Amino acid sequence: MKNIALFASGRGTNADNIIQYFKKNKTANIGLVITNNKNAGVLEVAKYHEVPSAIFPKREFFARHKILETLSHYNIDFIVLAGFMILIPKYLIDTFSGRIINIHPALLPAFGGKGMYGSHVHQAVYDSKVSQTGITIHHVNEFYDEGAVIFQASCSVEKTDTPESIAHKVHQLEYAHYPKVIENLVKSI
Ligand code: GAR
Repeated sequence: MKNIALFASGRGTNADNIIQYFKKNKTANIGLVITNNKNAGVLEVAKYHEVPSAIFPKREFFARHKILETLSHYNIDFIVLAGFMILIPKYLIDTFSGRIINIHPALLPAFGGKGMYGSHVHQAVYDSKVSQTGITIHHVNEFYDEGAVIFQASCSVEKTDTPESIAHKVHQLEYAHYPKVIENLVKSI
């Protein structure tokens, strides 16, 4: 069975959903949660599900050996970003070539790039009056939101929607699709 590390900086509702999925589905094991934020809700999620967790403040994240040692200690094969707010350093991309993926809460290349994360994305979608938004699951390279697209799913943006209701719709798409996409990729490595 392959071991996955989840990287998250915030509430961790996707992490929660992914951990629950792989408790039932034995294709992979969620072996570790890594965060840069000591106050992140994802730490409570990890504790609740009895998944080991580690906190690396941004500075330490760039101290190559610390992260690599931790990933190696937990025999991590695959890295899944779920609301992780730090640009992944090159050493990690090189070490886990083709084995790091991210989910972005919009239809890339629209509404991507530096500063486009979480509620900022939904606000921008709302302000731009587009009729569709969605999710993009993609490989991670050295640039924000620029790796090859693996999967996209869309939902409508109605005139009555608010940034909050858009966020809710997008989260539902994330919960429905991210674990299955992870499962398929892990099977192929
Ligand atoms: C998710 O919507 C994810 O797509 C987004 O952060 C949210 C985390 O929510 N990621 C980005 O914006 C990355 N650019 P969660 O903590 O509830 O899973």
